[in-house]
Amino acid sequence: MSGPSFDHEPIWDLAKARFSLGNTTIHGEGHWQKVHENGQEVGKTCGADLEVVSLFAILHDCCRQDDGDDPEHGLRAARFTAEISPQYLTYLSREQLAVLLFAIANHTAAGTTNDPTLGTCLDADRLEYGRDGSKLEAKYMSTDAAKRKVHAINSGGESPLNISLFAESNLSSQLPGLLTK
Ligand SMILES: [Fe+2]
Repeated sequence: MSGPSFDHEPIWDLAKARFSLGNTTIHGEGHWQKVHENGQEVGKTCGADLEVVSLFAILHDCCRQDDGDDPEHGLRAARFTAEISPQYLTYLSREQLAVLLFAIANHTAAGTTNDPTLGTCLDADRLEYGRDGSKLEAKYMSTDAAKRKVHAINSGGESPLNISLFAESNLSSQLPGLLTK
């Protein structure tokens, strides 16, 4: 899979090179792309810093060691992001970098927040929790846009499945009906 259409290819390539879980994981490039799409959709409704949201999408799961809880993966990814920042993220302000590192380090454990950028990062990832068939809950979302999206998904108006993940797997040939939806 190629990276997103915006100009983050060097960051995408670094994350890909750092990522160790292969092609069958639910936390790989298909997930990063979907988190990016969620983040842009949600973030533009609440004034989030869409650059920080994009970088979060690419980097937040790149240091996972398994598809389970892996409770340290956010902290590892934040350290990785800090390591590459002097060469690749110099265009960010100190405040942007601080929000990015905090969001990455705490994205699984953090509660909800009123900060639009941090909230969008968290929501963009949490909207993906439904990709394994789990029911999404609006109470875990920070932004109004993500809450509305959860209600739409739960009322059957929007599929929670990450179709791109199926497309990457061998399941795609067994699920033609799903993929044409
Ligand atoms: Fe994630």
